[in-house]
Amino acid sequence: MSRGADSESGDRAAGRATGRQRSTAHDLERYAGLFAQRTKVMRSSAMRDLMALIERDDVISLAGGLPDTSTFPPDSYASLMGDVASSSCARALQYGPTEGLALVRDCIGSVMAAEGMRVESDELLVTTGAQQAIDLVCKTLIDPGDVIVAEAPTYPGAIPTFCSYQADVVQIEIDRDGMRIDVLEETLEALERSGRRPKFIYTVPNFHNPAGVTLSLERRRRLVEIAAERELLVLEDNPYGLLRYEGEPLPPLRSLDQDFVIYAGTFSKILSPGARLGWTAAPAPILAKLQLGKQGSDLCSSSIAQYFVSAYFQAGPWDQYVRSLLEIYRRRRDVMLDALAEHFPREAEWTRPQGGLFIWATLPDYIDTTDLLARAISDRVAFVPGRAAFVDGRGGSSMRLNFSGVAEDEIREGIRRIGEVVREQVAIYGTLTGTSPAQRPSRPAQRADSVGTASPGTGVGGAGGAAGADARTTGSARPGAGAAGSTAAAGGRGELAPVVQLPAQRKRAG
Ligand SMILES: Cc1ncc(COP(=O)(O)O)c(C=O)c1O
Repeated sequence: MSRGADSESGDRAAGRATGRQRSTAHDLERYAGLFAQRTKVMRSSAMRDLMALIERDDVISLAGGLPDTSTFPPDSYASLMGDVASSSCARALQYGPTEGLALVRDCIGSVMAAEGMRVESDELLVTTGAQQAIDLVCKTLIDPGDVIVAEAPTYPGAIPTFCSYQADVVQIEIDRDGMRIDVLEETLEALERSGRRPKFIYTVPNFHNPAGVTLSLERRRRLVEIAAERELLVLEDNPYGLLRYEGEPLPPLRSLDQDFVIYAGTFSKILSPGARLGWTAAPAPILAKLQLGKQGSDLCSSSIAQYFVSAYFQAGPWDQYVRSLLEIYRRRRDVMLDALAEHFPREAEWTRPQGGLFIWATLPDYIDTTDLLARAISDRVAFVPGRAAFVDGRGGSSMRLNFSGVAEDEIREGIRRIGEVVREQVAIYGTLTGTSPAQRPSRPAQRADSVGTASPGTGVGGAGGAAGADARTTGSARPGAGAAGSTAAAGGRGELAPVVQLPAQRKRAG
């Protein structure tokens, strides 16, 4: 399997962490002739690799996208499953319809109403998480080489899916108001001139994973207008809409247009990712194809999980638990923002999300976060390196930080540890280049991989025009082209050189 050096060495590091056996070159050779073409561009999800580390007790992981399931009362879980056993045992243990059980589609109707839109039961397909919705949309729409437009950065878990369908992913820069619609329009124009029409535009409009930003109302309106004008589909992936800690809710894209927007939702962040239940709402002809695709994938989603969800919704107001989560996550977000202000160097920038689970931090561009991760892990803290959110190697100095799955004191300690490693690198760079951090001019704020400048606690700034051309011309990459840089194994404190990139090295790498 030909994959970027990045992910291979990442796999090796993860393999060592778990003691898992990795395939040798000889093993791979034996099977190579049997692999389908698409496996050549398959990429590992950085997050899946990091799961091995998340499980290590001694590592504070700010890498996961984990909701805090420890807040769900075990008694309630026992009682709900008891209800399922006593009232629906045989049906819960049985196969169900591909489109999902009617009682779960009713629950989805309540969640969608809370999001601000009405859906009819026959507009819905219950899926095995929103992840399956993304997969089915690709399965339905993407032939090798087809264009998918996505945000830059984009949801790291979507990248392996896009890659396995051999899509050509074009990433559009974002700023504090989400996807830059002006850049999108220019990109669509450029694609049209070269005879290419994207199959869909993928967006996470609320509390973006990984960037934490939210698509403004004005941009939502314009996005659906563009989709209708050009007859392009939009895949609206909305796991976080109900996790709003401040500000006014914004309408889902699908409430603004039903003809061109496919919606993906999930119970993962409002109840349980372990249930592995999500859904999609789509125009009827597309829904029919998605359903056929699902038949081939898994016949139906788990009936046990569907009965559990339905029992939960029947037991009382389902949003009470969500409200309890909001309180906890809002506090954790604030703790992380305070810790970043205290421990990250002056040159660092980060977003200030109004909801969701993630903060996106960008360090001076001579620090490579993929390599920094190895250093951080040796200091028992983990994050997702920014490159995981790009198909073309951008994002090298950024990182995704999760605040929902970690207790407040661990967030403080985790950020302190990352801050220490970062400051060490800043000092080394200063020594090697003869510039003290104080003398050095700030890094250019408007790089294409930046969501803008962020002063601690003030929210991200808007991206300037300078970044636009870069994003337009370099934002497209065949998946599997491989990310620049290398993932060092979790090394000792002596291995400093690879983390900091001197100006000459950056030039060579760039
Ligand atoms: C943007 C986005 N889409 C989809 C998913 C997958 O969600 P699910 O657990 O419903 O498959 C996630 C999970 O973190 C996500 O952040």
